[in-house]
Amino acid sequence: MKSIISLCAILLLSNPGYSESTPKWWQSMSLYQIYPRSFKDSDGNGIGDLKGVMSKLEHLVESNVDAFWLSPIYPSPMVDFGYDISDFVNIEEVFGTMKDFETLVEATHNASMKIIMDFVPNHSSDQHEWFQKSLQKIEPYTNYYVWHEGKKLPDGTITVPNNWVSVFGGPAWTWREERQAYYFHQFAKQQPDLNYENEDVVNAMKNVMRFWLDKGVDGFRVDAVPHLCEDVRLLDEPLTGNPNPDDYGYTDKIYTKDIPHTYDIVKGWREVLDEYSDEKIMMIEAYSNMTMTMRYYVYGANFPFNFGFITDTNQDSKAIDFKRLIDRWMVNMPILKATANWVAGNHDKPRLVTRYGRYRAEAMTIITLLLPGVAVTYNGDEIGMEDTRISWEDTKDPQGCNAGKDGYEKASRDPARTPFQWDNTTSAGFSTSETTWLPVNENYLTLNLATQKEQDNSYNALYKAVSALRKLPVIKRGTLTTTLLNDDVFAFTRKVDGDVVYVVANFANKEETVDLSTLVYASSQLNVYYATTNAHHLIGNIVKDVHTVKIPASGAIIYTSTIAPYNSK
Ligand code: GLC
Repeated sequence: MKSIISLCAILLLSNPGYSESTPKWWQSMSLYQIYPRSFKDSDGNGIGDLKGVMSKLEHLVESNVDAFWLSPIYPSPMVDFGYDISDFVNIEEVFGTMKDFETLVEATHNASMKIIMDFVPNHSSDQHEWFQKSLQKIEPYTNYYVWHEGKKLPDGTITVPNNWVSVFGGPAWTWREERQAYYFHQFAKQQPDLNYENEDVVNAMKNVMRFWLDKGVDGFRVDAVPHLCEDVRLLDEPLTGNPNPDDYGYTDKIYTKDIPHTYDIVKGWREVLDEYSDEKIMMIEAYSNMTMTMRYYVYGANFPFNFGFITDTNQDSKAIDFKRLIDRWMVNMPILKATANWVAGNHDKPRLVTRYGRYRAEAMTIITLLLPGVAVTYNGDEIGMEDTRISWEDTKDPQGCNAGKDGYEKASRDPARTPFQWDNTTSAGFSTSETTWLPVNENYLTLNLATQKEQDNSYNALYKAVSALRKLPVIKRGTLTTTLLNDDVFAFTRKVDGDVVYVVANFANKEETVDLSTLVYASSQLNVYYATTNAHHLIGNIVKDVHTVKIPASGAIIYTSTIAPYNSK
């Protein structure tokens, strides 16, 4: 009985701040990720900065973006390019000043957009004052990090406390002579883990949130959350059979990931946001299984990111894989009125076009933008940027460097992080400097925003046309139905009141003919609102026979009975 009651209680919970009559701004937002080092350089040093972001706000407005999140802009030795933070409440000089940041917040709000910070609670830089003091056992910092004096072997030598491996490879423990102890780090050794068993740390990080909320930010993307807590017994993890003890996959992460205590911490963060308003949001980065991922909804996250289109599907996936993935997320959201979300790319994974191929990537852009809830775009994906080949000598990412010359290409995240391609001038218009922190992709002469703006059949034209549809009630709050039209063709519909939008995507390498009569009201006239660039000529056409509709190889078409085709506006 008790368990039935608590189940009901969970089901009755709804997404933070939701009320039927007043949907919140974030529930159908188009969210855009800016990787500041690579977005726009304003001072010619080859590294992007805040003034650069300022100068490009117009591009975000034109792209129908509602909110953007900035990858970390805090002071950092840049071992992990900003994810190793040496001061949580300041701005890295390379990116600008606090004044620049305040100006950006104001300009963003004036442009009717929201600004979201990257909150990195799991670790700091080893250069952070807290760690430097912890090293010397200066109170109250002695236990701010996870320290252990090591395991004594029978011959008297001291070794690591257990077999835990870091995400970037190699042992998760590093010895410090100064303190005669090992400290724990889930990521690079320059990123010591904060100790969430220590209430002082929990409170200190809540104050970091308050600092940025006081500056007017609209919420947080929270980094690496499943890694936040560890099992305090520090037991060895079971082996997976992977023979390399330096590989993250060497052990099964039963003591270092998805630990229950993590969820209580997340709940505490929600309380901090609510001190400000129920409009402040928290989005959780969690590469975890479905159960552990969904649990974040229940503990006060607005949503955990849905990385399915990055991690579970690719250019070889079948129509059924997409249907399953979408249905699974919708069915598994644990609370009433929870907000779904669809991530097309980010700074940690190969780019969308590289993962899917050009036309399928366009289809994925259409799908992510038109499914219910939040659509997440990584900067550059709105013009179809591709991964850039980076030589070993130019490799910067610690995950790439740790993998060595033979393994770096598979591990490095640099290829997806190269400068934004604005136009065909020096360094693609990203910087006045000919050398940039990562090289510009050589394809910039033809693949750039300015060129695409001149063409009515470009990736960017498609992105703009489809994202414009998101402003309509049918996409903001329409119902969702997913269907397989045959083995290769997946379709979904969005409906609200009288309006209907149909998305039909062909994942085969050949044209497919499908029957749309099961989707469409018999009497209605269907027209093509928009399509992938290989079917651009069809835009505006009226479908003559819904029983035999042709969809090009790897293409997708958006139909509607009630909304005028995009290019007729
Ligand atoms: C997250 C970030 C990634 C970073 C890691 C450690 O996964 O997205 O870029 O390296 O956390 O902070």
